[in-house]
Amino acid sequence: MALPGEGVGLEVTAAALTVLKHVARLEEFGLQIDQGLIGQSAFVAQGSYFPEATAQLCQGADAILLGAVSAGLLELRQRFDLFANLRPICPSPALLHCSSLKPELLAGVDILVVRELVGGIYFGAAGRNIDQQGDYGYHTMQYHDWQIRRIARVALEQAQSRRRLLTVAHKENALPQLPWTRLVQAEAEAFPDVTVVPMLVDNLAMQLVLRPAQFDVILAGNLFGDILSDIGGAVVGSIGLLGSASLNAAGFGLYEPIHGTAPDIAGRGIANPLGAVHSVVLMLQQWGEQAAARRILQAVAALLAQGYRTADLLTQADEKRVNTQECLELLLAELVNQ
Ligand code: IPM
Ligand code: MN
Repeated sequence: MALPGEGVGLEVTAAALTVLKHVARLEEFGLQIDQGLIGQSAFVAQGSYFPEATAQLCQGADAILLGAVSAGLLELRQRFDLFANLRPICPSPALLHCSSLKPELLAGVDILVVRELVGGIYFGAAGRNIDQQGDYGYHTMQYHDWQIRRIARVALEQAQSRRRLLTVAHKENALPQLPWTRLVQAEAEAFPDVTVVPMLVDNLAMQLVLRPAQFDVILAGNLFGDILSDIGGAVVGSIGLLGSASLNAAGFGLYEPIHGTAPDIAGRGIANPLGAVHSVVLMLQQWGEQAAARRILQAVAALLAQGYRTADLLTQADEKRVNTQECLELLLAELVNQ
């Protein structure tokens, strides 16, 4: 199920779907792609940012591929209980100089941010009111212990299949009623080979830019995970590169680049499609189509090694500037070579 959304979502989803169709032909697996409305276009056509018709279409699909959207996304995540958001942050060897960090800090950096996606302050009691001091607004950061425990188990499983180190973002010096450390440590008893390191989230943000190689899996609640994963964009060189998977307990998933609708460049055909392409890779991995996923990753690596860059990644004179369509065509050609 494809939900291109709006802004650059339209351009990057079109490119990612073309890559997906191509790789399905090469690896010989079947594919049926339906398109649905979400966001502004859904509101104009059907009076809702996330119409029931779109929800029904998603329900019958094996996965949802989303571009970018400015409204309706939280409803979509909540509707399918997509609580586990996985955001890999892995610098490409060809792009070390694009990072805002010194290249030597990037050696060995391979981070997975596991972000809780359907709880916390995004979904707590909220409103506007008035008291004797005047108008005020509030959002509540509320987590049931079971919500923290279930995302902890996802992060622990991921850590177990990686380098067995789990850093837990928390803010217990100011928010002691949200005991992430204690709850994650309790779940970690079933994962004796995983080392759990609790870290205050403000310090964690600093450590991410001081010494990113110290991290393996980072577990964070909804708001902290949102903020920390954008730092990941600066670490790899552009937020336009990063994809994500949002899974529910059944393994059903929504796959989307972590960037937004980018209204400043939307419709100009210059957006970086690689975040959407990386989201397709995560979808294929979840489906067990490992060969197809590998083929795409190798094609992306080859393209970048040859110096092709969308505008967001252009830093050096000897690099070759490409727009979204040129990037796609080069990628399709590389797919055949892998
Ligand atoms: C993201 C985005 C969303 C979020 C916005 C669009 C609500 O920033 O997916 O990271 O905060 O979750
Ligand atoms: Mn975000």
